[in-house]
Amino acid sequence: MTTDFDFTGKSALITGAASGIGLAAARWLEARGIARLVLIDMDGEGLGAAEFSCEVDRIAGDVSDEALWADGLRDIGAIDCALLNAGIAPGGMAIVEADLAEWRKCMAVNVDGVFLGLACAMRAMADNGGSIVVMSSVSGTKPYPGTAAYATSKAAIIQLMRVAAAEGARQGIRVNAVAPGPVDTPIWDKSDITGGLHGDDARAAMMSELAKGTLLKRVPETGEIAGTIGFLLSDLAANITGTVLLSDGGASLRV
Ligand SMILES: NC(=O)c1ccc[n+]([C@@H]2O[C@H](COP(=O)([O-])OP(=O)(O)OC[C@H]3O[C@@H](n4cnc5c(N)ncnc54)[C@H](O)[C@@H]3O)[C@@H](O)[C@H]2O)c1
Repeated sequence: MTTDFDFTGKSALITGAASGIGLAAARWLEARGIARLVLIDMDGEGLGAAEFSCEVDRIAGDVSDEALWADGLRDIGAIDCALLNAGIAPGGMAIVEADLAEWRKCMAVNVDGVFLGLACAMRAMADNGGSIVVMSSVSGTKPYPGTAAYATSKAAIIQLMRVAAAEGARQGIRVNAVAPGPVDTPIWDKSDITGGLHGDDARAAMMSELAKGTLLKRVPETGEIAGTIGFLLSDLAANITGTVLLSDGGASLRV
């Protein structure tokens, strides 16, 4: 067992790897000696744009599509680490204005995608064990108005993670969740949660507004969240399974 952030000779599967937190996690692992990355994203162009110094398998597809996991990923070989991170954040809609199609889309990507990814990763870790992180959110633990679908999906994968931790333990598979508060990534560009702001100035204003919702009054860069994920993937977290690690600047404590 290594006692450091040393991933030499190891392999990692990452979903949502073309952008934001997933890409930062791939870079973080690359810098610490990972031998092989299996990167999955529906944005095939974005996935192809990133160069890495290690072996990389790039798989373009939708994580909520069972065929992706059955066909493209059935024979991925042994995997040591997995980050199930691909997710979408649909717009701010009150429950009384319910849009069932939007709800179902969010559940498909954020919950089905993690469920299918867990099955794949746990099969790939069955012989040698491993560590899995699912990407939740502070929204999965604290109710923000207008986030029903997103918040419910992020809460659901916390319980899914706990079941996976209970099922995987005898094979040496650890499963945990990271739950960030706001992080500066492109997900905010695609979301209506912020009222549809656009452009650089609007983006800066949006981040400043988001920072106000934390105790620490800050919005982290993706590398910081990658480090939190990396800790849980590493052997320094060998005794940690079934937990939710919040990295939210204290947002969950604000009333
Ligand atoms: N940025 C934040 O403030 C924040 C906070 C808490 C949690 N999160 C979570 O972190 C994760 C990563 O988000 P991010 O902020 O890096 O956003 P991002 O938009 O930069 O990255 C998300 C990636 O997932 C991919 N993706 C989306 N749907 C997919 C699908 N169906 N199949 C395959 N790939 C798909 C996108 O193409 C994109 O590359 C998400 O699960 C998000 O909910 C983000």
